[in-house]
Amino acid sequence: MTVKTGKTLMEVRNLKMHFPITKGFFKRTIGHVKAVDDVSFDIIEGETLGVVGESGCGKTTTGRCLMRILQPTSGEILYRREDGEVVDLTSLSSRDLKPYRRDIRMIFQDPQSSLNPRMPVVELVGEAMRLNGIAEGKELEDRVAELLKKVGLRPEYMRRFPHAFSGGERQRIGIARALSLNPRLVVADEAVSALDVSVQAQTLNLMQDLQDEFKLTYVFVAHDLSVVEHIADRIAVMYVGKLVEICSTEALFDRPMHPYTAALLSAVPKPDPRLRGKGSRTRLTGEVADPSNPPPGCPFHPRCSFATDLCKTDVPPLRRVEDGHMAACHYAGDLPIKGVAALAG
Ligand SMILES: Nc1ncnc2c1ncn2[C@@H]1O[C@H](COP(=O)(O)OP(=O)(O)O)[C@@H](O)[C@H]1O
Ligand code: SF4
Ligand SMILES: [Mg+2]
Repeated sequence: MTVKTGKTLMEVRNLKMHFPITKGFFKRTIGHVKAVDDVSFDIIEGETLGVVGESGCGKTTTGRCLMRILQPTSGEILYRREDGEVVDLTSLSSRDLKPYRRDIRMIFQDPQSSLNPRMPVVELVGEAMRLNGIAEGKELEDRVAELLKKVGLRPEYMRRFPHAFSGGERQRIGIARALSLNPRLVVADEAVSALDVSVQAQTLNLMQDLQDEFKLTYVFVAHDLSVVEHIADRIAVMYVGKLVEICSTEALFDRPMHPYTAALLSAVPKPDPRLRGKGSRTRLTGEVADPSNPPPGCPFHPRCSFATDLCKTDVPPLRRVEDGHMAACHYAGDLPIKGVAALAG
């Protein structure tokens, strides 16, 4: 296991990313896609924080804001540097951001499109080290060879191009590339979603080994709870740009507090066929809400079987229900919803 210091590595406060919707020749703004809408959470040093939710709920946008690939509409991203000093990444110019870009790296869903097909592996993995003046020539090649070994690829193949590799191997190249600047935080966005199940497991194992070896903190984005179940220490659940629940992985599976989480849990495939179809399941019906026109009150109310009049008018704030367990539901803790163990029984 990775050593978790309990120290906050990053504190995300009231993060909003609203994309303008424009119309006509003059690009008049006629509305906003509230892709991330007032989201707050902490990332603890050394942990793996899973971020889950249906497609379009704002997971990728959140990750891109943490990396400052996107400039958020508002909010703070407080990053604790190695020397203990805390900086708000949203307030920095692109020049002042440079050192932090080395600390925070991203692994993307589709290595096919995130790796330039005309670059050999040595350049794909070595590029950032060369551009940052860390190494060049023979020394750079030695470092690339070392990184390739770490991710389980043969250094002899460093002159080959991405098309010569399988999907799983390409994702390993993406991982080596992300690790080349010795980052502290790695945001993995659906990093294994495009891979076969057996290759998924190998890649997750590799990422866990690398986390221990390089003392990494992971934010692991996935649309599917079964992917993060075995790798995440804590899980954040998003719904239409909002954080609706966050707690330890164990608590989320045992005692979900938000009806949306319960619905996601009931969709997790059961390995034991005898358990399938048993227990009371909360099925997800209806369409996911439109982030440019979210429903008033609780964004989940049109799909929630527990919704009351209050839910149609009042937005439930994210609040602490138990120690380390936050949920954004007016009735969190009082609803007859079940965790996975109860579903199986
Ligand atoms: N650059 C952009 N411009 C406008 N809308 C965007 C942009 N990026 C994402 N969106 C919208 O923001 C919402 C959240 O998207 P995203 O963060 O990609 O969700 P997820 O990763 O959870 O599937 C979606 O409605 C998406 O269409
Ligand atoms: S606040 Fe109301 S509508 Fe929203 S999840 Fe809770 S019970 Fe359902
Ligand atoms: Mg995404």
